[in-house]
Amino acid sequence: MPVINRIAEFHRDVTEWRRDIHAHPELLFDVHRTAALVAEKLKEFGVDEVVTGIGKTGVVGVIKGRKSGSGKTIGLRADMDALPIREIRDHPYKSKTDGVMHACGHDGHTAMLLGAARYLAETRNFDGTAVVIFQPAEEGGGGGREMVKEGMMERFGIDEVYGMHNSPGIPVGQFALRSGPTMAAADTFAIDIEGLGGHAARPQRCIDTTLVGAHIMTALQTVVSRNIDPVESAVVSVTTFQAGDTFNVIPQTARLTGTARTLSADARDLLEERMGEIVRHTAAAFGAKATLDYQRLYPVLSNHALQVEFAGSVAAQIVGDNVDMEMPPVMGGEDFAFMLEARPGAFINIGQGDTAYLHHPEYDFNDEIIPIGCSYWARLVETAMPAG
Ligand code: NI
Repeated sequence: MPVINRIAEFHRDVTEWRRDIHAHPELLFDVHRTAALVAEKLKEFGVDEVVTGIGKTGVVGVIKGRKSGSGKTIGLRADMDALPIREIRDHPYKSKTDGVMHACGHDGHTAMLLGAARYLAETRNFDGTAVVIFQPAEEGGGGGREMVKEGMMERFGIDEVYGMHNSPGIPVGQFALRSGPTMAAADTFAIDIEGLGGHAARPQRCIDTTLVGAHIMTALQTVVSRNIDPVESAVVSVTTFQAGDTFNVIPQTARLTGTARTLSADARDLLEERMGEIVRHTAAAFGAKATLDYQRLYPVLSNHALQVEFAGSVAAQIVGDNVDMEMPPVMGGEDFAFMLEARPGAFINIGQGDTAYLHHPEYDFNDEIIPIGCSYWARLVETAMPAG
């Protein structure tokens, strides 16, 4: 059974919504226009309850099946925010906001979940409750965490929760997922170094913070290569190094920032601990002082085995054998991890074909996959809670 016929019929409508959202990208929690559009559409579809302002600008819609009292409640989640990237392609629905674009396909995720909500509200061919979740601030703001913190799972009685992301490089008509750790814990760090500034021709009177920073930066790379178990996965990337303003002054201070990724809680603890030791002691070896400010952002996204089996079987209803149940984990982070900490569920990747990669200025969501994604959402609800 491939794409649902009724859903194929409104492919054009969903494409229009997608392109409208694409032309009006918004950042982090400031997704006011997008959230208003989502709420308006849900009401138009006859969704039973529409709640706005959850997790600042998140929107939740409740769709009751034929016997909503007796069945389960399944949450389906999409993200609404864009990225601070300048779009370089020149299609008719190009971003109208300079320097902001939908470079991760969240425009497509939002439109596909709206399409599924329209179908589910129209057909109600299930026995239970579907909760459609539209979250803000996936790209670094923790919008999913905010929604969970505000008690969304309890308030709507959500038993299981599912997420989906488009994936460039995976062919159209394919899905991929895995059980267990799937995406990395994504943390950030800042290292502040204090030395002794002075004349660059008299280094003996100074404590050179640029040299200390260089040693710290190099030593940090030994955490992954020498401390983390080689069969584990971890990344430490120093991405900025700021020090000094001119060529003949040794700067008093220097600052390094970067990101750290791990696929297990143990590796995450070890990495933070070792980074702290290296930062303090390397600086001390040169007579400088340095501090590590390590911020834990998103936890490891860990899929639950039972729900992965189920999600894979639903995807197979749409695309047959083209479901990879053992995709390799990736070191990118995902805010949906907070929802999977709160409830069992699964995060699936939907193939978007051979396009520019996520977060690239040439990226564009592939509208061809809309009926596949909408059908997956609809069948997930209908299969999890079959109408009696
Ligand atoms: Ni994304």
